[in-house]
Amino acid sequence: MQVIRVKNYNEMSEKAADMLAAQVKSKPDSVLGLATGGTPEGTYKAFVQKALQENFSLSELTTFNLDEYVGLSPQHPKSYHLYMKNHLFQPLALQPSQTNLPRGNAPYLEKEAERYERMIKEVGGIDLQLLGIGENGHIGFNEPGTSFTSRTHIEKLNPTTREANARYFENKEDVPEHAITMGISSIMDSGSILLLASGERKKEAVKRLLEDKNTREDFPASSLRNHPYVTMVADEEALAAVS
Ligand code: F6R
Repeated sequence: MQVIRVKNYNEMSEKAADMLAAQVKSKPDSVLGLATGGTPEGTYKAFVQKALQENFSLSELTTFNLDEYVGLSPQHPKSYHLYMKNHLFQPLALQPSQTNLPRGNAPYLEKEAERYERMIKEVGGIDLQLLGIGENGHIGFNEPGTSFTSRTHIEKLNPTTREANARYFENKEDVPEHAITMGISSIMDSGSILLLASGERKKEAVKRLLEDKNTREDFPASSLRNHPYVTMVADEEALAAVS
């Protein structure tokens, strides 16, 4: 794993946006795997600015998001569908046919998970997967204990994950209890991975990822050690506990 140390959130966002732009410029028909949450917001903002300024082509781009909350419709204000529309898809004027998220309100969720896997396969897989990291080491919504062989599936969210994401909801009871998420194995199939970490809250997870040599399902991000092309862009606060 290559680690790029940056000063702060803004530098992380700029660096990550540069890397996404380089990917799309070198391969206009790239398939990008995308994440939501607080971490990539600045990256999307910087990427949108770059794309509009430099005017590189996005018409052949395809995107697949990692996850969505179960039970939320795409129009729900807290859905990841709406997050992506607001932060990236609309500002870039991407066509709905270019963007994909698992549907958290699909009537048959197992079938939806299979459909999502099939769609990724049909476009030839993900070239570059953007990831954040949970304080407990989750990637996507793969909580500790998720099998490294998992594909897209329904996951019960840990109380600590619901707590961490409660900041986006009016009440913490409103945070859905389940999500549909790409599995660890789906993530590991990506050609390359760009992992972002910013802020003090992430320092223990980053330390464990970099220093604890055990690759185990109780710490999902440790699976990334088995991937040949992972770059982590982390800021000083996120790296603060690393010796
Ligand atoms: C989001 C996702 C999650 C987040 C993680 C960190 O699509 O898959 O794994 O990346 O929960 O969230 P933030 O960035 O809000 O700290």
